[in-house]
Amino acid sequence: MSESIDSVLKEKRKFKPSAAFAKNAIIGSATKLAALQKKAAKNPVKFWEEQARTLDWFKPWKKALVWKHPFAKWFAGGRLNIAYNCLDRHLKTPRKHKAALIWEGEPGEVRTLTYHQLYLEVCRVSNVLKNLGVKKGDVVAIYMGMIPEAVMAMLACARIGATHNLVFGGFSAEALRDRIHDSKAVCLITQDGAYRRGAVVNLIEAADRAVAQCPTVKNVLVYQRMSTRPTMKDGRDHLWQDLVPKAPTESPAEKLDSEHPLFILYTSGSTGKPKGILHTAGGYLTQVAYTSKIVFDLKDEDLYFCTADIGWVTGHSYVVYGPLANGTTVFLYEGAPNYPRPDRFWDMIERHKVTIFYTAPTAIRAFMRAGDEFPKKHDMSSLRLLGTVGEPINPEAWIWYHEMIGAKRCPIVDTWWQTETGSILISPVPGATVTKPGTATQALPGIIADVVRDDGTSCKANEGGSLVIKHPWPSMLRTVFGDDQRYVETYWRKFAKQGYYLAGDSARRDEDGYFWIMGRADDVVKISGHRLGTAEIESALVANHKVAEAAVVAKPDDIKGSALVAFVTLKADAAKAALGNGRVHHLKEELRAWVAKEIGPIAKPDEVRFTDALPKTRSGKIMRRLLREVVTGSVKTGVKGDTTTLEDFSVLEKLRQGDEE
Ligand code: WT7
Repeated sequence: MSESIDSVLKEKRKFKPSAAFAKNAIIGSATKLAALQKKAAKNPVKFWEEQARTLDWFKPWKKALVWKHPFAKWFAGGRLNIAYNCLDRHLKTPRKHKAALIWEGEPGEVRTLTYHQLYLEVCRVSNVLKNLGVKKGDVVAIYMGMIPEAVMAMLACARIGATHNLVFGGFSAEALRDRIHDSKAVCLITQDGAYRRGAVVNLIEAADRAVAQCPTVKNVLVYQRMSTRPTMKDGRDHLWQDLVPKAPTESPAEKLDSEHPLFILYTSGSTGKPKGILHTAGGYLTQVAYTSKIVFDLKDEDLYFCTADIGWVTGHSYVVYGPLANGTTVFLYEGAPNYPRPDRFWDMIERHKVTIFYTAPTAIRAFMRAGDEFPKKHDMSSLRLLGTVGEPINPEAWIWYHEMIGAKRCPIVDTWWQTETGSILISPVPGATVTKPGTATQALPGIIADVVRDDGTSCKANEGGSLVIKHPWPSMLRTVFGDDQRYVETYWRKFAKQGYYLAGDSARRDEDGYFWIMGRADDVVKISGHRLGTAEIESALVANHKVAEAAVVAKPDDIKGSALVAFVTLKADAAKAALGNGRVHHLKEELRAWVAKEIGPIAKPDEVRFTDALPKTRSGKIMRRLLREVVTGSVKTGVKGDTTTLEDFSVLEKLRQGDEE
């Protein structure tokens, strides 16, 4: 059955590229973009080969695409090195002494590293890793904050052919342990502490607890960010400052196969534990380099600031690899956006003269709420281009961003992509695309995207359906690490007959063919742009000895996009103790803190509601759709008295009749 999904958004405003921007843009006109798209659509493989040639290869590929549905090899037989492409090749050009990174710590210190300096550091770290026994093909976990050393660690892995596995510094020890364990990492790179909102995030303490349960990890390299020397475990821990400065600066870049695994990055899915998304070298770099260049219109004079943490895919592709492959100067900031005041970003844009700014809708909404006086205090005339990523941007926030931050002068690129896609697939090209607030507009050259019905046929204009990608692309995930079957099931089963990749988003295309993302079609939710699987949070809740059953759903939230509501059934004794003694509030807080400890503060439910039983179908499946209706207020449960008592779903009984999900 193909049920069309109704869309409520009807945004009509259009913004044409300004002549001033178009004049100097890499792709400066709609005609040029259309011609490129047409050419690429005719032969995507040939188009991507042209882009791959902009990289330095030690050995050319034999076949551009080997496609054994749904397993891809791009630029098969070719050999290259990612770190070489991000560093060494710039040393032969005037970029050698150009800044690669300009970093600002949360307390305010500033460091600049030129391409040559970054190269030397990366070589040193490579040698340290090799001395610690890390070999080509080994997995190295990285659990760090936003400091230049995290970038060095990534590039050093890439240089020696180790596969990195970054774990976001906001994740808990338990989440870190699971990700190290699943990836079988042999080494962990971490730091003692990171500054966040004036406080110190104790990374080493969490790392210690995680590694204690990870026998595969033989060595831990610790960068000292704080003033006192961290306590280290003998034989296992090594201080970065003891080893790296003394290490030699010669470290040949390994000539790696194009399909050599570059990184694993864990992301949440609709079921089970997080999936280790695997990306490989040649295709990934080809596409992140190309999209960085055309979507951000990168020029040598730019100072590019992407606010994403490198623990997420945006940080991998658009803080590190894409911009550095283009020889761009990347601005890196350690701390919280609103520290010490909500104008921290605007202040840094003014002081450093940032030209390109890429952030998330949730941040934009938070700044909007903080008040116009903060951006108004700053001269942001250096800015020439703005971007967003992570979730649909509501037109109101888009307009505010356009007017208040971009002074109506800067184009906005609303970029759609996923951890799995590796790089941006749907986005305006600045200077060429007419934009409309709320839509990521069109697929980039070389990408064949569509919105289809359950039978695989294309939807009509404005008819909702599933977002699919119809042709393999170079930076696509290669598999779910260690679980080919899950890879096939999650992304390729639904449209196996047609051979389409299922993105998991529902979307519609408007009368101009623009893509409007309507949200996730599965049980994945976006909280402040972060991707969480409700199943994962439910399983964390059920792991608590007081909890019998849990169901987690999202409800709309003005700033975070969505907020999490957890419906929890307690075990009888726990229920009696808490509900009888009026300790309901206390228990709710306890469970929220429990989830924060199990996964990380980002996964903490905003609300916990207790119930005797969860509404279920006759076959026993929890009716999450009903729960969603309950949290959005369209269905009343008959909560007894105040909200601190039990939620009563018995009034839903009649709705349940014959309502099998
Ligand atoms: C999901 C992927 C890719 C970097 C950050 C997120 C949503 C992402 C947009 C956008 C509407 C968007 C989708 C997608 N999403 N960008 N511009 N407009 N929705 O990566 O954590 O893997 O999440 O984020 O739902 O499937 P991710």
